[in-house]
Amino acid sequence: MAIRTERVARHYQMGDGLVRAVDDVTIEVRPGEFVALLGSSGSGKSTLLNLIAGLDRPTSGAIFAQDRNLAEMSSEDLAAHRSHTIGIVFQAFNLLPRMTLEENVELPLRLAEVSRQERMARVREAIERVRLTARLSHRPGELSGGEQQRTALARALVNRPSILLADEPTGNLDSATGEEIMRLLGEINQTGMTIVMVTHERPCAERFANRILVMSDGKIVSDGGTA
Ligand SMILES: Nc1ncnc2c1ncn2[C@@H]1O[C@H](COP(=O)(O)OP(=O)(O)O)[C@@H](O)[C@H]1O
Ligand SMILES: [Mg+2]
Repeated sequence: MAIRTERVARHYQMGDGLVRAVDDVTIEVRPGEFVALLGSSGSGKSTLLNLIAGLDRPTSGAIFAQDRNLAEMSSEDLAAHRSHTIGIVFQAFNLLPRMTLEENVELPLRLAEVSRQERMARVREAIERVRLTARLSHRPGELSGGEQQRTALARALVNRPSILLADEPTGNLDSATGEEIMRLLGEINQTGMTIVMVTHERPCAERFANRILVMSDGKIVSDGGTA
């Protein structure tokens, strides 16, 4: 399995109340699948994605990515795991405004201490994949929203992860630009990469994913194929 969760919960104590953001979720994602995690706002999608990413720790239950138990990893192990195995894109592109497109994409490789020569090759490869070679020296403020998200996608791919997690990646884009991002995700999935994408738009999930998981009140209420 690429991803497996076993009865995972993430609860927040809020004053006297308990928020069950993720509540007893057991899922499996096979290598190469493109899974859409669908649900209304507040249903727990981002919380579950962040748990899978190792950005957050569960209250209870276990999470495995590429058969490694995240609970058995130290914070340093988790950081290394995120850097090598997992790529993440968010709704907000989270690019560094003073850096060029190329420097933004290169950053994860610097953090992973990849040699300069190797960095150049991988940065070019990632930028070609999202078709932004003509914009290498632009800063985020000089790019359209779609180009910024493609830059964020290149940055997520530059370490050649086996799993790509995307949290509402088209949420800040108009529909034509969103469509372009979705088609890129489809192409990336065709190369064998496992994708889990959070969305609240069913048509988008139905068109692009192989499988749809529906969340409601922290629980998976439907786990099925697409039409
Ligand atoms: N840090 C937090 N503290 C308290 N409650 C939180 C926190 N993060 C999320 N929640 C709550 O958990 C629930 C699920 O949130 P979230 O995973 O962001 O939903 P979604 O991504 O589906 O919109 C919501 O009720 C939200 O208010
Ligand atoms: Mg969310």
